[in-house]
Amino acid sequence: MNVKKAVIPAAGWGTRMLPATKSVPKELLFLAGKPVLQYIVEEAAAAGIEDILIVTNRGKSAIDDYFDYYPELEGRLSAGGHLDELETVRSVADLANLYFVRQKEIRGLGHAILRAKGFVGNEPFAVLLGDDIMRAETPVIGQLIRAAETYSASAVGVQEVSTAALSRYSSVKVRKLEDRIYRAEDMVEKPRPEEAFSNFAILGRYVLTPDIFPILEQTKPGYGGEIQLTDGLKALCKASPMVAVDFEGRRYDTGNLLGHLEATMDFSLDHPETGPWLREYIRKKANEL
Ligand code: UTP
Repeated sequence: MNVKKAVIPAAGWGTRMLPATKSVPKELLFLAGKPVLQYIVEEAAAAGIEDILIVTNRGKSAIDDYFDYYPELEGRLSAGGHLDELETVRSVADLANLYFVRQKEIRGLGHAILRAKGFVGNEPFAVLLGDDIMRAETPVIGQLIRAAETYSASAVGVQEVSTAALSRYSSVKVRKLEDRIYRAEDMVEKPRPEEAFSNFAILGRYVLTPDIFPILEQTKPGYGGEIQLTDGLKALCKASPMVAVDFEGRRYDTGNLLGHLEATMDFSLDHPETGPWLREYIRKKANEL
């Protein structure tokens, strides 16, 4: 198995981040120096992904623009001798071969993944949710790709969450294969506590085989009236091998205010320009509280 393509669904409404997301895609919200989506494209590129399809919608063409060259701006930066900024702006467009497709109706994550069918063809592919960013030494999607290749299986990224938090995620029924890697045998979307299989929740990263497409085509709208990826994954893990990878790293849901704030704090602490200053500022604030 050789995973060289990735799909980033980024067409959702972003209701939890209104009013900002009324005109700015939540995937482009600024986070410690760059947009959320850039972290995700960088993660995929760092894991050896060459071709990335971003699923957008008619209100999100700013995403295509962000990953394009901008000759007028580049010309100005060059003429003014701002060579570092020029390099920063230009390199964004060269992170990978980027492709775009529109989800013409926003009908859920499973429906968004279906838009990738033509792009993917007959190869396994990675999926990285457009508002989940990871802070990890080894790119999280790379950890999943390695497991998928080892077991000739599809893969979902999981971590243990509290029972109270499980109702926001998909709970996976697992059987241990080796340290951090489990066989995924079943799953349930947004379970009530008594419905959960385990505290392992799927968190924003997947490696899928093209077998998912005929399954999603047959999947009826589920939770929230949307075509749920989890409903498709449930069928996929029963039809063919799937591993659950308890990945190393921290995941942030930047699609809600607190997740976005946590990520802003942690990535700003890591950032050479802001880290030392922010540390001092936090100390000062803590003394005032
Ligand atoms: P979310 O579950 O965060 O949904 O999607 P959302 O609709 O964007 O956010 P809220 O609930 O309204 O606040 C996870 C990822 O899947 C994409 C989103 O853009 C996000 O990156 N997505 C979701 C799609 O591409 N299409 C959809 O129909 C739904």
